[in-house]
Amino acid sequence: MNQNQWKARKVVIVGAGAVGATFAYALAQSGVADEIALIDFNQDLVKGQVLDLAHGLPFFPPLHIHVGSSADYRDASVIVITAGAKQQPGETRLDLLKRNAGIMKNIAREIAVQESEAVVIVTSNPVDILTYTVLQELGWKAGRVIGSGTVLDSARFRYLLGQHCGVDVHNVHAYILGEHGDSEFAAWSMTHLAGNEIDRYCAICRKCNNWQAVREEIVNEVKKSAYHIIDYKGSTYFAIGLALVRIVTAILRNQRSVLTVSTFLEGQYGVRDVCLSIPCIVAQSGVEKIVEGNLREEEMQALSRSASVLRNTLDAMSK
Ligand code: NAD
Ligand code: LAC
Repeated sequence: MNQNQWKARKVVIVGAGAVGATFAYALAQSGVADEIALIDFNQDLVKGQVLDLAHGLPFFPPLHIHVGSSADYRDASVIVITAGAKQQPGETRLDLLKRNAGIMKNIAREIAVQESEAVVIVTSNPVDILTYTVLQELGWKAGRVIGSGTVLDSARFRYLLGQHCGVDVHNVHAYILGEHGDSEFAAWSMTHLAGNEIDRYCAICRKCNNWQAVREEIVNEVKKSAYHIIDYKGSTYFAIGLALVRIVTAILRNQRSVLTVSTFLEGQYGVRDVCLSIPCIVAQSGVEKIVEGNLREEEMQALSRSASVLRNTLDAMSK
């Protein structure tokens, strides 16, 4: 490859607050991107974040990091949107909709003006609704606009299962599906530990007398995780920063990783015209394929309930 063919793997991060800056820091350490452009309408904040990160350049793998503008969308490989309001204690993610929908539409219009060829990842909440909003505004092929979805919730689920079972989290394969929010649910039928389906693993392990109650407790804890952290310290940013590095790595390295990103469904699992999380194969072009697994009857019902919550919110938005 000659020098003229070389294209920097450029990631534009919109929103240089807690999530954007933490993600930038983790991405810089990963060495996966060649260039990071950080955008925020708070110019002092973005300048400060970039300077602070740039002083780490002697310790990061080679990288160009700078304050960005909408012109950076043009040759970006990935654009990650973390801009907008976050939950205050007691607020749900859906409560943020009015504040964040307008911000997403403006950012999407600027991306369109630049004729960007990037994959867009939405993280701002409510992430499923805002992914749908950005996708509609851009009018792109569905898989090119995705949400971070329940990649974070699935990590929380794996962590809690690993802790409970005394198994390395890396050997726990488990997914939270549906809305990244209160209607999400655990896909127990897709849960595997040490090569065994969870039911078989529990039968071998025999650690709990009432595994049904333990499972409910774990799922409730996953759902309440963000609320607890927001009560303790105001916002969540470390784990989502790492989840974003995982998604961006799958894209920039064309890894075909199975991740529960939020994606537009067109009838898969009997759901259509909403964005929500199910296992997807994520590669260079974004969502390359939606994996249509066999969910149990009660899981199909939970997915349908989650889809209804999101569809009703979208309908209310358009009135
Ligand atoms: P924050 O307040 O620390 O940062 C948000 C930043 O967005 C601010 O710096 C603000 O100036 C900037 N901003 C607002 N409008 C903008 C615009 N039009 N263009 C550019 N920048 C703009 O908030 P945070 O803690 O970083 O959270 C950001 C968002 O991410 C929230 O919506 C939060 O709910 C969400 N979040 C999502 C997940 C997830 O798993 N999906 C996890 C954590 C946080
Ligand atoms: C989370 C954010 C708040 O940490 O959506 O789940």
